[in-house]
Amino acid sequence: MSARNTIQAENLPKHIAIIMDGNGRWATEKGQDRLFGHLHGVESVRDIVEGAAELGIQYLTLYAFSTENWDRPEQEVAGLMELLVDTIRKEVPTLNKNNIRLHVIGDTSLLPVNAKKELAEAISETKDNEGLNLVMALSYSSRWEIVNAVKLIASAVEEGKLESKNITQSTFQQYLTTASFPDPELMIRTSGEYRISNFLLYQLAYAELYFTNTLWPDFRKENLYEAIVDYQLRERRFGKTGAQVKK
Ligand code: IPE
Ligand code: IPE
Ligand code: MG
Repeated sequence: MSARNTIQAENLPKHIAIIMDGNGRWATEKGQDRLFGHLHGVESVRDIVEGAAELGIQYLTLYAFSTENWDRPEQEVAGLMELLVDTIRKEVPTLNKNNIRLHVIGDTSLLPVNAKKELAEAISETKDNEGLNLVMALSYSSRWEIVNAVKLIASAVEEGKLESKNITQSTFQQYLTTASFPDPELMIRTSGEYRISNFLLYQLAYAELYFTNTLWPDFRKENLYEAIVDYQLRERRFGKTGAQVKK
């Protein structure tokens, strides 16, 4: 039986964030080049985006490339960028067919010109879609994002648009790249690594974390359902006692 039948429709996370990890090891296990793993990782992206949309998940954030990933061998970075451009170009009709709106978070100024152009077009062509919001974290790192928010807030104070005494958690949230998205309730990381790797440090404050040994190119809808079922078994207390939240 599919884990999908066990999912309670009334208790779905609104926002799921995924660290898609393990492409390189998947390829190495098969005696192939790391890029072969990234290529197959795209298949998983397609399947998971479709699965999330079918379930009625509202936001799906996928960590595709970190700020630190720029330090990988030049050939791997170039291959990943090419794959990115190619995939976006090909996927826009499917995104539109499935009513999916694309967003990007990260320091996109570092991306190659053609990737920036392809992304801008895809964002604009999907902007009226009202189903799943697909957020791609590209050239993203949480420390970059937080420092960037601090700079923006400092400028707003300097320009007299904001008073420092009025800065609240909600103000801060508005200066993050995720300003228009709710915080993820569920964060999944594949490939058996138990770390956050500079992903949504602020936004994951109360997320339920789910780790699986499955490598990203093997991760499919059924694995997503299992993660959601696991999430639904958790008691989310937000600092309160178990008795308080059961009321
Ligand atoms: C995740 O897979 C994809 C990116 C970080 C771009 P990896 O490339 O990190 O694969 P492993 O962790 O080396 O197996
Ligand atoms: C995190 O994976 C970044 C992405 C999945 C895009 P990494 O493979 O870069 O993380 P570390 O280096 O193992 O922490
Ligand atoms: Mg990795």
